[in-house]
Amino acid sequence: MTNEELCTLAVKAMENAYVPYSGYKVGAALLTKSGKIYTGCNIENASYSPTVCAERTAIFKAVSEGEREFLKIAVSGGKNGEIAGEFPPCGVCRQVMAEFCGADFEILVVKGENSFMKYKFSEILPFSFNPKHIKKV
Ligand code: THU
Repeated sequence: MTNEELCTLAVKAMENAYVPYSGYKVGAALLTKSGKIYTGCNIENASYSPTVCAERTAIFKAVSEGEREFLKIAVSGGKNGEIAGEFPPCGVCRQVMAEFCGADFEILVVKGENSFMKYKFSEILPFSFNPKHIKKV
């Protein structure tokens, strides 16, 4: 799976976005260390705050299937499904990434047709609060 292919899957995942309120369609494609791919889209809600982002949909789908180790995620988004530049992960999604993803986890942010920016998790959420800060019982 190349980075370009993962980005293409993120763009494809935008198709299922449920966005009657914002009109912003977002798609994500997550590659696990075991080589599987989980896609996700954003799902909005009339009560607004229950809205879930594409990245978290993909991560939660994967975790619910027993996956906990991830290599990279591609993300794309735009108004009415038209990509007009980067649509980077929100802070809540970065915090969810902090739970499961290491410093080297890669985030591919689609910019346009056949173009994306690549970031390491440590760049987009430095000094994260993560499981290392919690003493487990
Ligand atoms: N959204 C995502 O799906 N991922 C992000 O990381 C940023 C925001 C969604 C939430 C909402 O449905 C729409 O984009 C506009 O904020």
